[in-house]
Amino acid sequence: MSAPIVWDEQGMPHSVAFDDKYFCKDSGYEEAIYVACQGNHLRERFSGLDPDVRGIFTIIETGFGTGLDFCCVWQLWDECAPKTWGLHFISVEFAPLSAEDMARALSLWACLSPYKEKLLQEYRSASGGIGEFSFEAGRVRLTLVFEHVIDALRIIRDRGFSPDGADALLLDGFAPSKNPEMWSDAVFAGVRALSRPGTTLSTFTVAGFVRRGLAAQGFEVTRITGHGVKKNVLTGVLV
Ligand SMILES: C[S@@+](CC[C@H](N)C(=O)[O-])C[C@H]1O[C@@H](n2cnc3c(N)ncnc32)[C@H](O)[C@@H]1O
Repeated sequence: MSAPIVWDEQGMPHSVAFDDKYFCKDSGYEEAIYVACQGNHLRERFSGLDPDVRGIFTIIETGFGTGLDFCCVWQLWDECAPKTWGLHFISVEFAPLSAEDMARALSLWACLSPYKEKLLQEYRSASGGIGEFSFEAGRVRLTLVFEHVIDALRIIRDRGFSPDGADALLLDGFAPSKNPEMWSDAVFAGVRALSRPGTTLSTFTVAGFVRRGLAAQGFEVTRITGHGVKKNVLTGVLV
């Protein structure tokens, strides 16, 4: 069964279960670029990958939702990364959107259209458990673990989906006040276990217990200026 969604008067998706929005009303795309991509310095890091090396850049996200972050990262990857490198985007989701709702949400941004179409072609075939999808002859891989975040993070570790630890983490699971389960110490320990020194993170929340929980796992976190209505967002690096 897919996650129940209501659409507000501006055509933005809203979760019925969590009474929260999937992305910022005025500028979801710009915010995703700002928090997920700039927050992890992805443009500089993708552009700086050594073209003489064949490597994998791994991103782990908590909360796949509409796939907006994935499409934004993929678009940037297309723009900047050398062809010798592969992107592996791993995400967790326990209440997947229907393909129809995902299509409607991503249609808000015409510039994402090519990514949306390719994503949906694969996403439509997902049937729970673990979905492993490959795009552009394997240059971009998406692994979706359709489980509760705690189980999903354990599965990612046990199945060796990210053997060398993530390069970047995107923490995105609705507001901590609406969904504290997604921001528990067990989740912070789970993402820590999938990290290595130098792993960066970004998230839209600067809640004190989130900052403290991540710091307790060894992440050095920094509040940076936010985007749009958000005064601050959080970035971090595992030291
Ligand atoms: C704000 S949305 C994520 C938006 C997403 N990053 C995007 O690009 O559209 C949060 C997502 O986290 C998922 N989620 C919430 N609690 C979860 C849990 N305990 N385990 C797994 N996924 C969860 C929700 O179903 C929702 O899709």
